[in-house]
Amino acid sequence: LLILALDPPTGVDAFSWSMRIAEEVGDLVHGVKIGLPLVLDIGLQRVGDLLSVFKGIKIADLKLADIGDVMCLTLERLASIGIDAVIAHAFVGFRGAIDKLSSRCRELGVKLILVVSMSHPGSSEIMDEVIDKLVDVARRACAWGVVAPATRLDVVRYVRSQLPEAKILCPGVGVQGASPGDALCAGADYEIVGRLITRSDSPRRSALEVLEMQRKKLAICRR
Ligand code: XMP
Repeated sequence: LLILALDPPTGVDAFSWSMRIAEEVGDLVHGVKIGLPLVLDIGLQRVGDLLSVFKGIKIADLKLADIGDVMCLTLERLASIGIDAVIAHAFVGFRGAIDKLSSRCRELGVKLILVVSMSHPGSSEIMDEVIDKLVDVARRACAWGVVAPATRLDVVRYVRSQLPEAKILCPGVGVQGASPGDALCAGADYEIVGRLITRSDSPRRSALEVLEMQRKKLAICRR
């Protein structure tokens, strides 16, 4: 129930930095999420090499937000390096955008994850004002999953009530303020954790602590 966000800091050798963390925690996490910082630093092919160290779901978080045809071009490149799931923004709408992306995802066997709310405070300025419309895009696309904020558990509960079948993935644990396990208790399927683990003196110990907190909270809330 733990997905590692692998975002290298600026100025490091991103491949060795990522490989060190992958070797420390690759067997503990249930998936890995890569984003633009890593892709820009090391290029897509080497991201593919790195991902082979991880078991579980491999998610590309490039926050796709374009016309459908162009998002499909990006998707095809991501699929070619073994990505299992892609994250796109729901706010681009269904017609001519998410409809095309979701069909191409199905053809390629890649899972589609749509952002319906975000973990930073500004999400309430715009995205949360139209959350029902964003959720509706996810429903129409039959998205495999959605992203909702671990930092706002009421939003996670609301999204769960609206999308009973979808996987909910929640970033915001650790540096952004949420505690491990709380989003799971609010209905999420996975918590996405980055810097709390990757910037720790001991990524392995930190990952084990997150897993232990998740286990303890779930033992109470799912009793
Ligand atoms: P940290 O280091 O804060 O990293 O644990 C969090 C990771 O999750 C991404 N992130 C988000 N992705 N919606 C998303 O789709 C969000 O609300 C959100 N908040 C954080 C971030 O890119 C990083 O990789």
